[in-house]
Amino acid sequence: MRSILLLSLVIIFAGCAKEINKGSIFSPDGKIEISFNVDSTGVPFYAVFYEDKPVIKPSSMGFEFKNVLPMKAGFKIEKISTANLDEVWDMPWGEQNSVRNNYKEMLVELKEANAPNRKLNIYFKAYNDGIGFRYEFPEQDGVDELIITDENTSFNLTSDHTCWWIPGDWDIYEHLYNTTQFSEIDALSKKGHESLAQTYIPENAVNTPVTMRTSDGLHLSFHEANLTDYAGMTLKIDKDNLSMTSELVGSDRLGYKVKRSLPFKTPWRTVQISETAAGLIESKLILNLNEPNKLGDVSWVKPMKYMGIWWEMHLGKSSWDMASGKHGATTANAKRFIDFASKNNISGLLVEGWNTGWERWIGFEDREGVFDFVTPYPDYDLPEVVRYGKEKAVDIIMHHETSAAPRTYSQQLDTAFALMQDLGIHSVKTGYVGKIIPKGEYHHGQWMVNHYRTVLETGARYHVAVNAHEPIKATGIRRTYPNAISREGLRGQEFNAWSADGGNPPEHLPIVAFTRMLAGPIDFTPGVFNIKLNPYKKNNQVNTTLAHQLALYVVIYSPIQMACDLPENYEGHPAFQFIRDVGVDWEKTDVINGEVGDFVTIARKEKNTGNWFVGGITDENERVIDLKFDFLDTDGDYSAIIYADGKNAHWNDNPTEYTIDTVKVNKESTRSIRLAPGGGFAISLIK
Ligand code: NOJ
Ligand code: CA
Repeated sequence: MRSILLLSLVIIFAGCAKEINKGSIFSPDGKIEISFNVDSTGVPFYAVFYEDKPVIKPSSMGFEFKNVLPMKAGFKIEKISTANLDEVWDMPWGEQNSVRNNYKEMLVELKEANAPNRKLNIYFKAYNDGIGFRYEFPEQDGVDELIITDENTSFNLTSDHTCWWIPGDWDIYEHLYNTTQFSEIDALSKKGHESLAQTYIPENAVNTPVTMRTSDGLHLSFHEANLTDYAGMTLKIDKDNLSMTSELVGSDRLGYKVKRSLPFKTPWRTVQISETAAGLIESKLILNLNEPNKLGDVSWVKPMKYMGIWWEMHLGKSSWDMASGKHGATTANAKRFIDFASKNNISGLLVEGWNTGWERWIGFEDREGVFDFVTPYPDYDLPEVVRYGKEKAVDIIMHHETSAAPRTYSQQLDTAFALMQDLGIHSVKTGYVGKIIPKGEYHHGQWMVNHYRTVLETGARYHVAVNAHEPIKATGIRRTYPNAISREGLRGQEFNAWSADGGNPPEHLPIVAFTRMLAGPIDFTPGVFNIKLNPYKKNNQVNTTLAHQLALYVVIYSPIQMACDLPENYEGHPAFQFIRDVGVDWEKTDVINGEVGDFVTIARKEKNTGNWFVGGITDENERVIDLKFDFLDTDGDYSAIIYADGKNAHWNDNPTEYTIDTVKVNKESTRSIRLAPGGGFAISLIK
């Protein structure tokens, strides 16, 4: 009976959506509205409108727990209050100097009408670029702790949108994006990818950010902000009802999703809303929904370009482990890289395979106690490499591959970071390849979310910035902990070296820019010049042109950007000048144009120098971009060095043909630039 009542209620709401109006707030520009009510059975519902048209139809909210009654009906509204804020905060590093945080807020206080009369609060925030809401379990008599077995936040869509999605994998985000209508999402067909060291897709759900376009051309992206002491959220797909419901990543070991003592707040559930695709990239909603910087002065966090004893392992030229007889991390090789980096305006060097344990990492069941984070292999003189680097102004970046044995890593964390502090090393790349030990835990569950946070907090104490691979997704934590400098959490460049499915197609990054990139900085590791990977790989290649690789330094945001190819592949290449010149820390960013999965062009102004850099990429289709230089914010001429695809360039047939033109431009200038199939362009504008 109740479900029939509910159903008719939803139909009423759908027909006359504005009936849900018990509480309502508008974004500062008045375009976005969030409304809230409870129905006749006390089920909480919210709805979202854009310019009076529904974006999220009335959608219910609720929780299920272990051993206690669910909280999903029987609520009455105790109180609704509103507030607003308009402030500007500074970014220590980022896409721009500062961010405006301007919203209207509504706090709904709910209480169960009958025993046990528990309380639940919901905070809603309406911004010009989208909405967020979070639950609060306030302090209350008789409830000290809750064990959540299910969060049931629903998102009822208005029609069968076009979606860009990856499966809701509990262990990894390194899937290719799929472009389908909502009703065609089939995450289960992505199970068991042969090139993933760990993957677990329990049902037809997607991971976030998931981006959609309505038939009216409105762009939506669903994600979460401030994922703290909680499980990561996937979204379960109901194709028939065009609805999604939050599905938290669980723990088979512990038999629940989340355990918390009261009072506590959940992460924010977010929907970015923009008329243009470009507007999604410019949105700062996710960051604004995080708490301010807790670390104070973080001048030890240094945006930089870096190289690595890294790509050569992925190509099979060398190996991480010394027993292989082709060890990459030797003192001599590190010095060779340092010499090259120092001559080419690159100030970091990542060295992987420097420490003992690599003989027993990937493919081994028992990985506990194997990696040692302070003991170098005998052919790698760590203090000497660090000293040599300092002499040449190249900082060594530490590497900690945990092989998904976080307890072994946690035990050594203080010693490992203390060693780095002694050596004056201020950044680490971490890695979590493989199935998590202990068994039954997943990379994206609450237990691991807390592990990743402990590493960040410990890093902060030792003045270490963290670039996590196989991480938990970015949810804007970099605002609170600016030592969260970058992360992987997507199919990176490495797949082009060895993936059994032929690597990342040309459309990969034109999708990533509007999906994964909305979450935060990406350590994609761009810059392959030897596109066909000769002579190392017969069956793999990078599926873009060389000019597309250059563009990524601007398009794909990260304060640390790798020049990932081997020094010998850069040597003598005129296009390498762009990598020498390009900035990594920005005063402002202008997303010039773009369509999800097709193309995107971004201009960024470097902090302190006033130089601008522009990058544009396309998918497998050739296209012409008519670029206006009206983003330039000062009068006068700039010398523009334009790196573009050659006339016959093509990602597969002719990827390395490019042209370099130097011209004078000012803010009135325009230029048409042709992008080859899988191509791109990059421009340095030097004042
Ligand atoms: C996977 C990381 O993504 C990759 O960059 C790294 O080289 C290997 N793990 C080894 O740690
Ligand atoms: Ca990886």
